[in-house]
Amino acid sequence: MIQTIVLPDLSETQRASHRLDVYRGDLENRIAPGNKFHKLRYHLKEAEKLGAIHIATFGGAYSNHLHAFSKTVVNAGFAPLIIVRGELQIGLTPTLRDCADDGAVLFSTDRDDYRLGLESRVKNEVEQEYANVYWIAEGGGGELGVLGCRDWADSISAFSAGSDGASVTRLGSSNNQPYDTWCVASGTGTTAVGLACSNAVKRLQVFNALKGAEGIENTIEALTHDFIRTYDGISAQDVFSKMAFWHSRNCGRFGGLPDEIAEFLRALYVMNPELRLDPVYTGKLVYNIWRKIKENRWRFRSALIIHTGGLQGWRGVKRERIPYPEFL
Ligand SMILES: Cc1ncc(COP(=O)(O)O)c(C=O)c1O
Repeated sequence: MIQTIVLPDLSETQRASHRLDVYRGDLENRIAPGNKFHKLRYHLKEAEKLGAIHIATFGGAYSNHLHAFSKTVVNAGFAPLIIVRGELQIGLTPTLRDCADDGAVLFSTDRDDYRLGLESRVKNEVEQEYANVYWIAEGGGGELGVLGCRDWADSISAFSAGSDGASVTRLGSSNNQPYDTWCVASGTGTTAVGLACSNAVKRLQVFNALKGAEGIENTIEALTHDFIRTYDGISAQDVFSKMAFWHSRNCGRFGGLPDEIAEFLRALYVMNPELRLDPVYTGKLVYNIWRKIKENRWRFRSALIIHTGGLQGWRGVKRERIPYPEFL
C-alpha cells in the first residue's frame, strides 16, 4: 500500500507544494516487516547452499534486526544464535525475550569485543561450541543484504507504477506519477545501497538515524564498491550521484526519543490514525523532512518514503512518549 502523509502545522502553500507518500513496507511481512526480510533473504539461501545448521548474528538489546532474525531463521528451518552487545540484563528486554522464546541462544560480550564483529573473540567461542554456523553481520548487512534490497526497490517501483499486475492501493492519493525522489533511513547503510543500486530509483535521500555516525557515507561508499564488484548492472558513479545524505537533526541518543520528535509523532498520529512510524528510523526521518518543509528547505514536490518497519522498537521507549495505544 502507498499512503499520502498529512503533515501537521504547515501553511497552505507548503502543503500544496510538497507531497509525501509512504510505501507501507511495515505491512509486508508479519515476522520480518519493512527491510528485514529483504536483508535476510539471500543470506538464508546462502546458508542453505552451504549446509548450515545454525545461523548467527549480532545486535543490541532492542534490535529490530534480531527480532526479525530469530523468527525468520526458525521458520526457514535453522537454529538461531545471537551475540548481544554489552552485558545481558537479568530481566531480558522484550526484544530479547521474544528471540529467546523463538528458540535463539543468546551470548553476550563486552562492547570492545562486540565492535570486532566477525573478528571478535566471542565469535570464536561460539564456533568452538557449534558446528556448521553461517554468520550474518550486524543489521543483516553485507552484499547479500544489499542484493535483497535491490530486488525490493524493483518490486516497490513496479508496485507503485501498477506494472506488477497487482492493483495499487493508495490511501489519500490517486496520483501515480513517478516521484521526484525516494527517501530511506540508514543504520548500516545496507538498505540505502540496495535501493540506490536499482535502476528503478532515480534519486535517493538517505537519512542517517545514528547519532554521530557521519562515517555512514564512507561505509556506504565501501559497500557500494563491494557490491558492484560482484553484481553488475550499474556503475558506482551512477549509484553515488543518486544519493544525498542528511544527518538527522535531534537524534538524541540511539533509541532515545527527544521531546520535540515525540510531540511531532503524536500530532502526526492524530492526522494519520492508520499510520505507525517507529521511534528510531522512520519517525525521525519523517520529522526531519517535516522540519525542512516548514523551513522551506525541502525542494522536492513529491517524495516516496520507504517504511522500513521497526515498530517493535516502541517497547524500548518510555510510556509517556508513545503515541500509539497498542504499545502502551
Ligand atoms: C526500522 C529500521 N529502519 C531502517 C534501518 C536501517 O537499515 P540499514 O541498516 O540497512 O541501513 C533499520 C536497521 O536495520 C531498521 O531497523
